[in-house]
Order: sequence, then structure tokens, then C-alpha cells
Amino acid sequence: MNERLNKIAECVPAGRGVIDVGTDHGYLLLQLAQSGYPGRLLAADINPGPLETARRHAEAVGLLDHLEFQLADGLELCDPEAVDCIVIAGMGGDTICGILDRAEWCMSPEYLLVLQPMTRAEVLRYWLVHNGFSISAEHLVRDGGALYSVFTARFGESERLTDAEYYTGAFHQIRTLPLCLPFLQQQLSRFEKICIGLRRAGKEPERLRFTERITAQIREMIRNADSE
Ligand SMILES: C[S@@+](CC[C@H](N)C(=O)[O-])C[C@H]1O[C@@H](n2cnc3c(N)ncnc32)[C@H](O)[C@@H]1O
Repeated sequence: MNERLNKIAECVPAGRGVIDVGTDHGYLLLQLAQSGYPGRLLAADINPGPLETARRHAEAVGLLDHLEFQLADGLELCDPEAVDCIVIAGMGGDTICGILDRAEWCMSPEYLLVLQPMTRAEVLRYWLVHNGFSISAEHLVRDGGALYSVFTARFGESERLTDAEYYTGAFHQIRTLPLCLPFLQQQLSRFEKICIGLRRAGKEPERLRFTERITAQIREMIRNADSE
């Protein structure tokens, strides 16, 4: 387990069951089993190789009987009655959107989603907000020199975000996090670089205006975070 997976595990409440979509090594579910998670532990992966790895890891620590394995695309084989928490981590934001979009049953307040997109977090936050989900908590974790966003969502009462907040998470949810400032600085420098490139190329004025707006919104967040 690493810091990223530890943070994801912390977000999973005790419940009737959790599915880890794209389980790969299976470490998350093994950690939950070892820490006494009371419900069912479902490991799903679209590829047989990773699922076999998860099975071997479970066997090695004597927990094979605790896990259920599904060779499946996303949530297609998941019984909605079996779980109340859905973890999808370590994939691109657009892949995660596709998985959720194909499982209409997860659009119910019954299910807590624990999400950790590796890329395109803004696409995933946008999808959630525009499909009736409320992003209930934002977390930041540093692992191996990189910063990761981990967030939870549940169906009901969406809150609109600013353009920049689709990239960073809602400011009121991140401003008190210990890694807020380094994370915002990293995002700022990324958007400043994009602005420079777009100005030099001089070809996409609309995209430049959008990127400048995001840059200004992130600067504003940094000013307010500094004054905390
Ligand atoms: C980079 S690994 C992430 C493993 C783990 N979730 C983590 O965060 O460390 C991505 C895994 O997702 C699986 N995967 C990709 N698309 C999937 C899908 N549509 N349904 C289920 N698994 C998928 C891949 O086979 C791979 O094992």
C-alpha cells in the first residue's frame, strides 16, 4: 500500500459491501479486509491478468475467501444490492465517467463513490455535477513526489463549480487541506505554461481566454488560501 491507496481506503466507510473497479493488484481490498471491513469485498477488472494478480496476492496473505472476483467492464457484473460503496481509482477521468455512465443504478443516494482520477479530473467533476451528484469531500495526497486528488460523491443536490474548480475541486473543500497551496501552485504553473504557449501560437483566442480565466481564478484561490 502507498499513500494514495491509504487515502482511498480511509474514504471507504464500514458498510454492506465495496467494489473496487479496476482492482489490478487488489491491494486496496486486501487492506480493507485486514483492517476489519465488515461487508463484501468485490474486485473487478476488465483484464484477466490483473485479476489473477489480485487473486494471487489475496492467496498469499490468506484472504482469498474474503474477496469476490469479477472479470468485467466496469460495474456491468456488480449486483447493486451487494455494495454501498464504489471505488474507481488509478484511471483517466474520462474512463471513470464512461464506467459510471453505463451503470445507471449508481445514480442513487444509496451509493458513495470514491474516485481518484489519474488524469482529466475536470471531466469527471463536470460529469458528476451535471448528472446530479454532489461532491461530498475533496482530499489531496502526496505519493512518490506527485499530488493526487481523491474525492467522494453521492447522488443528490449538485453544487455548481467555477471553471477552475472543475480542475482543482471546490475551493471551500480544499482550502483547509495541508497540501492546498502546493497543489494550487502546481495547477497555476501548468495553466500559466498553457497560456504562454497559446499566446505564442496566436491561433486559438477562445481557448486562450478560457485558460486565462482559469489562471485568474486559481490566483484568486491562492490569495485567499494564503490569508487563511
Ligand atoms: C492503473 S491500474 C489502477 C489500479 C488500482 N485501482 C490503483 O488505483 O492502484 C488500472 C486498472 O484498471 C483496469 N481497467 C481499465 N479499464 C477498466 C474497465 N472499464 N473496467 C474494469 N477495469 C478496468 C485495468 O485493467 C487496470 O488493472
